[in-house]
Amino acid sequence: MKVTVIGSGYVGLVSGACLADVGNDVLCLDVDPAKIKILTDGGIPIHEPGLQEMVRRNVDAGRLSFTTDVEKAAKYGAIQFIAVGTPPDEDGSADLKYVLAAARNIGKHMDGYRVIVDKSTVPVGTADKVHAAIAEELASRGEALEYSVVSNPEFLKEGAAIDDFMRPDRIVVGADDEKAIELMRLLYAPFQRNHDKLVFMDVRSAELTKYAANAMLATRISFMNELANLAEALGADVELVRQGIGSDPRIGRHFLYSGCGYGGSCFPKDVKALIQTANQAGVEVKVLTAVEEANDSQKHVLIEKIIKRFGEDLSGKRFAMWGLAFKPDTDDMREAPSRVMIDALLKRGATVTAYDPVAMPEAERIFGNESRLTYAGRPMSALEGADALLIVTEWKEFRSPDFDVIKSRLRAPVIFDGRNMYEPAHVKAQGIEYFAIGRK
Ligand code: UDX
Repeated sequence: MKVTVIGSGYVGLVSGACLADVGNDVLCLDVDPAKIKILTDGGIPIHEPGLQEMVRRNVDAGRLSFTTDVEKAAKYGAIQFIAVGTPPDEDGSADLKYVLAAARNIGKHMDGYRVIVDKSTVPVGTADKVHAAIAEELASRGEALEYSVVSNPEFLKEGAAIDDFMRPDRIVVGADDEKAIELMRLLYAPFQRNHDKLVFMDVRSAELTKYAANAMLATRISFMNELANLAEALGADVELVRQGIGSDPRIGRHFLYSGCGYGGSCFPKDVKALIQTANQAGVEVKVLTAVEEANDSQKHVLIEKIIKRFGEDLSGKRFAMWGLAFKPDTDDMREAPSRVMIDALLKRGATVTAYDPVAMPEAERIFGNESRLTYAGRPMSALEGADALLIVTEWKEFRSPDFDVIKSRLRAPVIFDGRNMYEPAHVKAQGIEYFAIGRK
């Protein structure tokens, strides 16, 4: 099949590459010529394991190409994925200007039947707006071409996106007509394997499903973070509580890890947007509002522990920070807890030496010329003369450090661990003061 993917960012590029990898001819469009140049030169503009090889393999096979030409893109695929950004506007609602611009371009240039697939995370009701935008363009051209608008939300985790696309748990498709349903069934046939992964529903339910999934996961995390804080106050251990409840199949083991808060491009944005959607619909969502508030304060939990240990005034203190990315295997720092912590430490007069395997260039871009924030080439060199170590991202390379080296490098052996990487008893036995999240 011929497929156009509009938007060559994270979601668009992963979807385009994976669809090409199963034999489709895919044209990826982006309005940013710099991005398209990187892609046509054989590079990729983001960090995602396995994506570079997959893109190259499919470009070499002639199945994947890139363009900035909107007309060519609209004329190319019978299936047109919209995978452009939906940044939050001032009130937290998703800004649809890129989605609707993409829709209008399709309407302007399409020359036959099209299935327009909303892949971007968009508020309930967006498919109707996309439909109307295309109708308007067609009407102004005096054309009466047939088209369908489908909602097909992505459930890609950064760092595991290729696997999530190639081996999905489910493929949610919201479609209101048979022709579109048939095309989507054909397109996703290679991903079906042994059992039916496709879940067909109406368009609005599909749009809501995406938000519901992310909000549910964010809720679990905020709930566990609250339990961790409670466990600390009560002298219980949240790790044991997690194991105790996770073994109940009704609860399940995933996304029960307490820490210094969730970040990323999805959870914070989607929870906010769903609250906005609810407000607009006149529905009070008390749980969601609490999830967001709890996460905002959780990002300060390590700072509170630091203040308790070192006092309000941190001037002259230096902190080593391991991990900047919002989670491992990505250089993404959107809404990352590390940003809140760096801001708070700098504001209190401290200096920070950070190490992250891939996100340091991103941090430099975000923090610019901040003289009190420096970077280390290796985890252990970040510790040299620091007053404490803060662990903010659970990269694998931090899992089994040489605690003797940590002790010898730090001015005093203190670790604040925002990701519960170690057994408290083990760290303490090494003569290190250890502050984790909800651990006994
Ligand atoms: C998420 C969803 O998982 C994915 O399905 C959706 O399409 C996009 O949003 P992503 O943002 O890439 O994916 O990361 P994810 O692995 O879900 O982690 C999000 C945040 O939650 C991270 O900051 C992570 O550290 C935090 N987290 C996750 C916890 O604090 N505890 C957990 O138990 C799990």
